[in-house]
Amino acid sequence: MQDDTLTLRVDRREIQANGIAVIDLVAPDGRELPSFEAGAHIDIHLGEGLIRQYSLSNAPSERQRYRLGVLLDPSSRGGSSAVHERLYEGIDVKVSAPRNLFPLSSSAAHTLLAGGGIGITPMIAMAYELKAAGRSFELHYCCRGKESAAFIAELEATFSDELILHFDDGAPDQRLDIHAVLASQPEETHLYVCGPTGFMDWVIEAAKKAEWPNTQVHSEYFTAEVDTSGGAFEVEAAASGVVVQVEEGMSIAKALKAAGIKVDVSCEEGVCGTCICDVLEGLPDHRDQFLSDEEKEDNDQIAVCCSRAKSSRLVIDI
Ligand code: FES
Repeated sequence: MQDDTLTLRVDRREIQANGIAVIDLVAPDGRELPSFEAGAHIDIHLGEGLIRQYSLSNAPSERQRYRLGVLLDPSSRGGSSAVHERLYEGIDVKVSAPRNLFPLSSSAAHTLLAGGGIGITPMIAMAYELKAAGRSFELHYCCRGKESAAFIAELEATFSDELILHFDDGAPDQRLDIHAVLASQPEETHLYVCGPTGFMDWVIEAAKKAEWPNTQVHSEYFTAEVDTSGGAFEVEAAASGVVVQVEEGMSIAKALKAAGIKVDVSCEEGVCGTCICDVLEGLPDHRDQFLSDEEKEDNDQIAVCCSRAKSSRLVIDI
């Protein structure tokens, strides 16, 4: 596999809004960084094998920096605390080149951006890209209160015509009425949503109820609970013919790794897509947030970091 990692330097770090580290990464020699599109993320290598994905939140037209916003999440599995503890100004860190699994549609007549809490980060890059292209959009930012809202000064200054703020602790009439917002959109609107799982499920469910086509609803989960319950099954790695038993509580990726088969994983919770493999035989039990409903119905791909099998045996292309 091609090594696409870069070493970048923390140029600026600012704690905003009760625990969100806003971090600018630059090339140590001041070179331009690889370009990115709105919705892209980078993998950050945090040491001891810990790799986490963070969305880029600055304008894609900026080539000198990548800006991230990282919430210190006490329930995280180490990623956000490693960022907060280790990434200080002047520190060098290995990152991947940007990858975009959450791209904007180029054909949307109007774009509805809904960011919940720290899920605002990819929405900011999207807002910059849409504004630069002169395209129609609105940006809804939902958070607990003004003091827990990062990036707010930048958003108010840059997107005064498009930004609509919703605070949980504010008056009821300014909270997000997702049903009314969805109902008021022009027909060819595309919806983008990112934030805590409950917020995203709520928005996506409302769009489903309002019969929005799946092709116009786009989402990116940051984290997910991994459910590894269920009976044991067998997995054959087609390239080598190695067969492993995947017990309850274990992932396919871990079972394969224990048998000496290299599996590329990153988030290990079904959100990033790094570990997706083709399924050659058998029926997957999809537990990831990465594949779309249509892709899951096809049953020809599987996220081996978290998904399991409905059949007693799977053969995968690895
Ligand atoms: Fe991220 Fe499996 S490693 S989806």
